[in-house]
Amino acid sequence: MKYYLTTPIYYVNAAPHIGHAYTTIVADLLRRFRRMQGYEAVLTTGSDEHGVNVERAAERAGKTPREFCDAIAGEFERQWRLLGLQIDHFQRTTSPQHARVVQDLFERCRKNGYVYKGSYTGQYCIFDNLYVNEAKPGDPCPDCGRPTETITEENFFFKLSAFQEKLLDLYERQPDFIQPETRRNEVISFVKAGLTDLSITRTNIKWGIPVVGEAPHVFYVWFDALTTYMSAVEGENLWPADLHLIGKEIVRFHAVYWPAFLMAAGLDLPKRIFAHGWLLFENDKMSKSRGNIVRSEPIRQVMGADALRYFLLREVVFGQDGSFSYDALIGRYNSDLANGLGNLASRTLTMISQYRQGVIPEADRHEAVASLAEQTIAALVTSFEAFEFSKGLEAVWVLISAVDKFIVEMAPWKLVRQSDASAPRQLGSALYTAAEALRIVTALLAPVLPESSRKIWAQLSMPEPIDAVRFDNLKWGGLQPGQKIGEIKGVFPRIELKPAVDKMRELELQVTAEQQVLLGKKPEPAPAEAPAGIAKIGIEDFLKADLRVGRVLWAENVKGSDKLMHMKVDIGEAEPRTIVAGIAEAYRVADLVNRLVVIVANLQPRKLKGIESNGMIVAASVNDGKPVLAGFHEDIPVGARLK
Ligand code: MSP
Repeated sequence: MKYYLTTPIYYVNAAPHIGHAYTTIVADLLRRFRRMQGYEAVLTTGSDEHGVNVERAAERAGKTPREFCDAIAGEFERQWRLLGLQIDHFQRTTSPQHARVVQDLFERCRKNGYVYKGSYTGQYCIFDNLYVNEAKPGDPCPDCGRPTETITEENFFFKLSAFQEKLLDLYERQPDFIQPETRRNEVISFVKAGLTDLSITRTNIKWGIPVVGEAPHVFYVWFDALTTYMSAVEGENLWPADLHLIGKEIVRFHAVYWPAFLMAAGLDLPKRIFAHGWLLFENDKMSKSRGNIVRSEPIRQVMGADALRYFLLREVVFGQDGSFSYDALIGRYNSDLANGLGNLASRTLTMISQYRQGVIPEADRHEAVASLAEQTIAALVTSFEAFEFSKGLEAVWVLISAVDKFIVEMAPWKLVRQSDASAPRQLGSALYTAAEALRIVTALLAPVLPESSRKIWAQLSMPEPIDAVRFDNLKWGGLQPGQKIGEIKGVFPRIELKPAVDKMRELELQVTAEQQVLLGKKPEPAPAEAPAGIAKIGIEDFLKADLRVGRVLWAENVKGSDKLMHMKVDIGEAEPRTIVAGIAEAYRVADLVNRLVVIVANLQPRKLKGIESNGMIVAASVNDGKPVLAGFHEDIPVGARLK
């Protein structure tokens, strides 16, 4: 039986980080888990390489789009290899075979009457190459503030509106089509509110898959990207997918557009979409401007890939947002892996080596431990099938604690010194019970901790490879008395917090710098004089700018924008100034209120997201880094001029 699952295909205009690793690790876990259930599980991931953003990123890097994509897609592949992820297909949207499948999907939709040519009129920013959906004629671009233009473009449209009932019917008939429940409800209300037709081609982009016979039309990136799930396994009899694993921000594309495209083309629908939550850094969104993006490589180098996998699966409730921090990572590692599993393994194996010359003894069944172990097998399988990874792992750790307690109660170190006739048998049974429980725990954890489980498995000298273990025949009693254990080596050495965090942070800087080079961003040189391209000016030019000391009286995040902050700033005039600035990713409302800032008071007013900004706040930043507001160390009255 096959089980086909996918991750999103990642954009190549950013380098891989632990957010991407999170989804891909879970996908790898599920592939391994399904294989242990006997499925022929196949995993597709890949890279999403078309569109203006990539075109532009390549240009910035001084590369052709092709060269640029090769480099970043290669970096994603390399990261997955380093993490030991079992990926069957790494599909790139720039592969010619993928293009054919996209073109074929379009033809099918067109043949079935779901595609028509129409024209799109809207506001467009020619600097950013972006449609500004909510803008009216005359509005500025919310990103760059420059005026948008009204353009009319001829596009091919997909009749999404024809699928409202069919989609609602699908969600009804297959209640687990979209999981978890909260996401399902969001999608249902979105579809109930009515669907408008979707433009699925563009004529203003060159870096895309051409629509056959319809130059200069190329496909809209999402029509192109979603089709990867099919193109990756073309001719392999794997479609429909059993599972699309995604992050919560792309639910609409997967749960609305994608099934509609497939229905229109008369193709089978994926069976399930599971949208997980966001991985935050110390409860904050990870972002380039905050400079808090965490990469997996430093963690792998210092703690191993299994430590990262365990943390992500145990600490984050799958489906909800979760927070990453180095402290929590190391805390979990030490308590659960070093003290928990690692300690159980080394203690059990060492006793067998010391008290029984390394030979697994004959035993009587200890019912409590044996039946708890069998229940744990069932509990883990049930939890993992329901995507409840942390719950499944908790059950395994209940077993580990129970075995620890059992060892203390049996006290093999006392039994070994007792001279009554039953002591050797009791000692043997105690050791066997601990070792057999360890074997079961190790097998259960193989999908989560592949590298470490393999090591413990080898120390138990199990004759069959761990990959061959199936849940079906994982039962108490599989460990054979008489078997001689292998060489004992600690699997999870304790990690000291401070040096480990320092090392990871240091590596983080290194890895980020390497990735910046890959993305073609040069490290900022320290400018000794005015950078080339900015002419020297006289004092009279400088004085044209009316720079004033202001105090922020009130601030609020602008709705529908991550970047913009709406503020009222007192600059010593009768009325406070309304100022909208792109600082919301760097400052919270509470950081701003009452703060002294520098305002350019005589700037032409401009409208941002419908709010007229009357002046500009002065901030410094490095490259695309987060803005840092200019301010004062001494007392200075509001309204004072900077000269
Ligand atoms: N290219 C599209 C997806 C097309 S799928 C046909 C895209 N790419 S992306 O590079 O932005 O990747 C988004 C996905 O990466 C998320 O859906 C999620 O799986 C993963 N994550 C990226 N950052 C993440 C976090 N901070 N936390 C959790 N997952 C995140 O969207």
